[in-house]
Amino acid sequence: MTVINLGVPSLGPADPAPADGPLIDTFGRIATDLRVSLTDRCNLRCTYCMPAEGLDWLPGDDLLRPDELARLLRIGVTKLGITSVRFTGGEPLVAKHLEDVVALTASLAPRPEITLTTNGIGLARRAAKLKRAGLDRINVSLDTVDAARFARITRRDRLADVLAGLEGAKAAGLDPVKVNAVLDPTTGLDDAVGLLRFCLDHGYQLRIIEQMPLDASHQWQRGRALGADDVLATLQRHFDLEPDPAPRGSAPAQLWQVDGGRGTVGIIASVSKAFCAACDRTRLTADGQIRNCLFARQETDLRRLMRTGADDDAIEAAWRAAMWAKAAGHGINDPGFVQPDRPMSAIGG
Ligand code: 5AD
Ligand code: SF4
Repeated sequence: MTVINLGVPSLGPADPAPADGPLIDTFGRIATDLRVSLTDRCNLRCTYCMPAEGLDWLPGDDLLRPDELARLLRIGVTKLGITSVRFTGGEPLVAKHLEDVVALTASLAPRPEITLTTNGIGLARRAAKLKRAGLDRINVSLDTVDAARFARITRRDRLADVLAGLEGAKAAGLDPVKVNAVLDPTTGLDDAVGLLRFCLDHGYQLRIIEQMPLDASHQWQRGRALGADDVLATLQRHFDLEPDPAPRGSAPAQLWQVDGGRGTVGIIASVSKAFCAACDRTRLTADGQIRNCLFARQETDLRRLMRTGADDDAIEAAWRAAMWAKAAGHGINDPGFVQPDRPMSAIGG
């Protein structure tokens, strides 16, 4: 099959997905990066993600059992060409079996790279165990280093726990430790400067992510969230930023070297400069649904297939078909954009 750039598909969604080879879509993109949401629950209530009272959590019977998750990870890695696995949530540290899942993933051949996106609460206690289980790298979400603003954004007074979690990750030898920040529309520019100072001082790599319309309350408004250009202009007033010369590949962050190599900062313009054309992701929710995009309107139910006796070939084929149908882009900036029903916490970041 000819693999071509986004634009004119070589084969259309009406054609069947290839039965072997990598996980490819009709635009020729190949998914090698699996994002696994282990739970939709969280111990924070970030205002851009969840309402104060939380959400209706997925019922326990709907969640993948450890053996079911192990089966899907094995199929993804050994049959579909997955080379990196990122565990997310909700908050993945809320999942008690995280260390076991990491160890199991590390035992697969060829061994994928294993990463974690966490809010850092409880990480201080678990970072060394996770590292021993096979975790390679970590991203900790932190939107401000100001305790009062942290409490306002997350509705919990837990900044100290997150900072301890970051220290624990570094002490455990997880390298690099990345910090993911979604900026508050009112204080975010100020927070970005404080976060970058903090990250430079501690040797963490800051990534600033544009807020996307994935909040459970559907409060996101076009033009209200801070854009990458504003963030960059603000940082440039406080730091010397040079474009990082390393090639970007499918990495969503545009990287800048700070103050002559003291560190780097990445800016992820998910909305204003979408990187869908280079997307290499496939997503598995905690209840066993494959999503070909954060913003997909459809899911493919692998849990039901497994529970009705499907063999590995049938599961593999369903996963391939799900990815084959991936849209060209998230369409956030299109006039007819419709936000997905599931919030970020139930999809996985
Ligand atoms: N837009 C962008 N990023 C988000 N995250 C959560 N909700 C959103 C959103 N609406 C981030 C979290 C975390 C990761 C899982 O996704 O801050 O870093
Ligand atoms: Fe929890 Fe992450 Fe949502 Fe914040 S953004 S409430 S840490 S799932």
